[in-house]
Amino acid sequence: MTDPAPARAPLVAEANADQFRAWNGDDVRGWVVNADRYEAASARFDPWLLRAAGIRPGDRVLDVGSGAGVSTVAAARFAEHGHVTALDISGPLLEAARRRAEHAGLANVTFVQGDAQVHRFAPASFDVVLSRFGVMFFADPRAAFANLASALREGGRLALLVWQELARNEWLGVLFDTLAAGRPLPAPAPGAPGPFGLADPGTVRGVLTAAGFTDVDLADVREPERLGADVDDAYAFMTSLGPTQGLLAGLDEAARTAALQRLRDRLADRAGPDGVLVGAAAWLVTARRPAVSG
Ligand SMILES: C[S@@+](CC[C@H](N)C(=O)[O-])C[C@H]1O[C@@H](n2cnc3c(N)ncnc32)[C@H](O)[C@@H]1O
Repeated sequence: MTDPAPARAPLVAEANADQFRAWNGDDVRGWVVNADRYEAASARFDPWLLRAAGIRPGDRVLDVGSGAGVSTVAAARFAEHGHVTALDISGPLLEAARRRAEHAGLANVTFVQGDAQVHRFAPASFDVVLSRFGVMFFADPRAAFANLASALREGGRLALLVWQELARNEWLGVLFDTLAAGRPLPAPAPGAPGPFGLADPGTVRGVLTAAGFTDVDLADVREPERLGADVDDAYAFMTSLGPTQGLLAGLDEAARTAALQRLRDRLADRAGPDGVLVGAAAWLVTARRPAVSG
C-alpha cells in the first residue's frame, strides 16, 4: 500500500521545526526504549478512544501522532478489511510502530512520516481520524485540524484523547510537586504546543469549529495512570523521564537526594494491589466532518 499523498509537500511546517527536532533527537530514544511503559501507563484511556472512534471492519483510518503504534495496532484489528495510516513526525517512533505491527502480523497498516499540519492527504480519503495524545503539539492547531478535516470524507468521524490541565494530571504534577525544591517552576503556557496544548475546552471547540468540524463534544474522562507495578518499578520509570532530569538539573547533591526521596515517598503513598496509580484526566473529543452537499 502506498502513501495516499498525491503531491509532494514539505515534511514539516517551519513553525513545527522544534517539534520535529524534539521527536527525532536524542531525547526520543528514551521514549522508544520505554514505549511499552508509556503506553501501559495510559492504557485505561484506550477503550474510551476506540469506542468513540466506532471503527467498522472496512473503514479507512488515520492515526495522527501515532507514536510507537499502540492505537494503530488496535485500530487495525477493528478495521480488519480496511486500512490504517499511521502518521507521525518522528522517524524513530514510526520505526518502533512498524516493528510492533509486523510482530502483530498486521498487513493493513501504512506508516508515514509527516507533519499533520501540512501533510498533503488525498482529499476525503479516510472514514475515521483518531489520535491518542498526539494532536497537542501543533504550532497552528486551526490549520492542522483544517488539514485533517479535508482528509476525512463527508460525515467522517474524529475521535481524540487530549490531556486536561496540569492541575488534574498528577502523573506530571507529582514531578513538579516533589522536585521543585522550593524553586518557582514555570507552569506550561496554556495553549502552547505541548502535552497541555488542547487542555482548554473552549479552545478545542473554537479550533475544531473553525477548522470545519461539527457536532464537537468533549467528555471528561478520569482514569488513573499506572506508573509501575510497585514503587521500585514506578520510581525507575519516573526517574528515566526527560522532565525529571530537567527538574533535577541545577540542584546540589543534598537537594537532589531530598527531592528524589520526596518523589519516592509520594509514589509509595499511591502504591496498591493494582500497582502505583496516580490521577489523570483527559478530554475525549469527538466531532464530524459535516455531511453536506448539494
Ligand atoms: C505524546 S506522544 C503520543 C504517541 C502515541 N499516540 C501514544 O499514545 O503513545 C505524541 C506524538 O505526536 C507526534 N507528533 C508531534 N507533533 C506532530 C505533528 N505535527 N504531526 C504528526 N505527529 C506529531 C510525536 O512524534 C509523538 O509520537
